[in-house]
Amino acid sequence: LPVTQANTVIKAGHVLDFESGKWQKDQLIFIENERISQITSATAKIPDNATVIDLQDQYLLPGFMDMHTHMMGPLANDFFAGLFQSPHRSVIGGVVNAEKTLMAGFTSVRELGSADYMDVALRNSIADGEVAGPRIFASGPSLGITGGHCDDNSLNQSYELKADGVADGPWEVRKMVRKNIKYGVDVIKFCATGGVFSKGTKVGMRQYTLEEMQAIVDEAHTHGKIVAAHAHGTEGILFAIKAGVDSVEHASFLDAETIALAKEKGTYLSMDIYNTEYTLSKGEENGVPEENLNKERQVGAIQRASFTAAVKAGVNMVLGSDAGIYPHGDNAKQFARMVRFGMTPLQAIQASTINAATLLKQQENLGSVTKGKFADLVAVSADPLKNIEVLESVSFVMKNGQVYKR
Ligand code: ARG
Repeated sequence: LPVTQANTVIKAGHVLDFESGKWQKDQLIFIENERISQITSATAKIPDNATVIDLQDQYLLPGFMDMHTHMMGPLANDFFAGLFQSPHRSVIGGVVNAEKTLMAGFTSVRELGSADYMDVALRNSIADGEVAGPRIFASGPSLGITGGHCDDNSLNQSYELKADGVADGPWEVRKMVRKNIKYGVDVIKFCATGGVFSKGTKVGMRQYTLEEMQAIVDEAHTHGKIVAAHAHGTEGILFAIKAGVDSVEHASFLDAETIALAKEKGTYLSMDIYNTEYTLSKGEENGVPEENLNKERQVGAIQRASFTAAVKAGVNMVLGSDAGIYPHGDNAKQFARMVRFGMTPLQAIQASTINAATLLKQQENLGSVTKGKFADLVAVSADPLKNIEVLESVSFVMKNGQVYKR
């Protein structure tokens, strides 16, 4: 853990202007406690008592934000490990994974779906400065229908296994939202369709009814919480957007209607287009069952084509990688895929910074190198607008004004 420093000044050679995509040359970034207090030209006077960090030969960006992670859980790549492991063990995995994520330059994450409020516990421990990790926006257990993607269908009925967030019908889902809020979540997640990594669900098939989705969104928004919906199939995506969710996760089978509606309503899409490569190359070796590998084959290429179409249409996009499917700390690999499938490097960076901050309603605090915001900063040694892959190896990480990597 870093030592607390009250006053820091960064000598920055290049600072990204998040709107124009221009590099501001030779700036001084003044940091007081956890926030950026001033940004000046390099000729301004540096106070004698300040700690100076020289990043004149680096490119400085706002800390990255991954809007879809699963940091809790096993350290091994064994597909079934989670089934045999206690929540206590999983949260220790979370501590290790959180540090890897932060060291990769991700200073904020949205943790989407965590049994036993493990994510809330880890969020609080990180915020109290006990362990190193990104700021966590935690969802607690994902809501889902009985037998759906957000249930746990791996054991037979005599075990009576069910996931924490299972709720059916408008009043049960409202109660589950209230319970999650009671135990401290920041956001609500629900499963609108089947998924790749669950047993016995179909990726294309809707799960909650429109009425249930509307109940979830109404209850969450009434309490000031944003909502993320897992949805691959078109009808599930459509109903989720109609119900008023803030983001759709995966969004694999988009069509003209869902793209137009997302655009009209300002819905964010959080499309995990890196992990398909990992699953198709390493999944079998990690013990992923054929049922799930087969579903990945159904989703991967279509999802990337949908991504291209959504970018082209100008839909709001964030970076959401579903870290945990692939090893933690590799989150930045998604940047290059976002560029390969249609974004400019600047758009990919914006998706992971200012757009994510706006989705979280944290644009006053996060998402750009701006006076008054939290000093969450990363640096790389080359211009990422020319070579996006340089974001996979950050040379410097600061969160809350504290240096974690240098
Ligand atoms: N959690 C998601 C699911 O199980 C992951 C989907 C991964 N594949 C993909 N092509 N995005 O459905």
